[in-house]
Amino acid sequence: MIILNGEVGNYIYNNGIRYSYFAGNNYLGLAGHPEIKKAVIRAVEKYGVNFAASRHTTGTSDLHLELEGALASFKGKEDAVVFASGYQGNSILLEILKGSYSTIFADQSAHASIIAAMPADVVKVMYYDHCDAGHLDYLLDYNRGSSPLVITDGIFALTGEIAPLNQIYEVVRKHDAILVVDDAHATGVLGPTGKGTPEQFGLPADGKIYQTETMSKALGGYGGFISGSHALTGLIREHSATYQASTALPPPIAAAGIASMAILRENPSLRTDVLDKAWTLREAVTAMDFTTTHFRTPIVPLIFDSPEKARGLSVFLEENCVIAPFMNYPSRQAMHLVRIAVSAIHTDDQISLLLGLLKQWKDKYESD
Ligand SMILES: Cc1ncc(COP(=O)(O)O)c(C=O)c1O
Repeated sequence: MIILNGEVGNYIYNNGIRYSYFAGNNYLGLAGHPEIKKAVIRAVEKYGVNFAASRHTTGTSDLHLELEGALASFKGKEDAVVFASGYQGNSILLEILKGSYSTIFADQSAHASIIAAMPADVVKVMYYDHCDAGHLDYLLDYNRGSSPLVITDGIFALTGEIAPLNQIYEVVRKHDAILVVDDAHATGVLGPTGKGTPEQFGLPADGKIYQTETMSKALGGYGGFISGSHALTGLIREHSATYQASTALPPPIAAAGIASMAILRENPSLRTDVLDKAWTLREAVTAMDFTTTHFRTPIVPLIFDSPEKARGLSVFLEENCVIAPFMNYPSRQAMHLVRIAVSAIHTDDQISLLLGLLKQWKDKYESD
């Protein structure tokens, strides 16, 4: 495991050695942005590190309220509520919607936080084939009479695939279901204004579509959020045990979120930069005969049929000062891949260097 001795950008440092960094989820390169760092330092001086109290008791600052206002305005919603992690978002949402559904239909490759969020006393949980709206429709038909809730990742973390939300939405409407999209990897990246996967597909701002989101990835900060009507955020604040019984997001982290909202507003080209760079890389690895996926997202997986090859490639890259991890992430589907995460701050030279190394490895280990 690589131990970092400095901040995360397009490069990282480990014991004085510089590595080109194609890991993590710093898609817009904001994790070390000077304005965000300044905002955090100012907030540490004023508020300290942590209030050591939940939002429900004495853990709410003016910064939390300002951040929630900024997120609501970014999302075009009445309100937003922030909490300690993106991982918590699915638990909070499934908890407060509990009276409205009796069966959960989840993508077979749904993120671990979705699986962990399923309430123990839900009547039934069914998994539809990965990204297969036809199979979802079949399962919903077969289970007619249940009050269905459909849940999927927007962008899948490992493979960079985008859920076919246009098709899923049609099925959801036909069956009068609730739709929840975990957009952890799409917030700030997909859609004409970065609102995520529903915006990318032009879905209506419908009361029955919910998103769970995070500030920990493209937004370069930390913490989860849910936006929506005052009725929805009120339910979270008043009825979610997960929200009420966990320590509030530290105020300096709320300050990071506010700064990152401003950067996002003023720099829409960050989104197109990362998507263009990732697409260039994706086309180049495809031309080299690597198996990958074909979506305009920052995640470019190199998929193998055995863990040894994937692990071997990741080690070869690290020996050549490039970090792109072999992934064996918790998931229902076994997957052997090297996950390349592209960031808006990667230079063309870094991408060329990576492609050169991939070609060397391919010639050495996969030429017939
Ligand atoms: C799809 C998905 N949902 C939720 C999370 C959790 O978000 P956070 O890391 O902000 O807690 C992740 C993070 O890895 C994720 O990939």
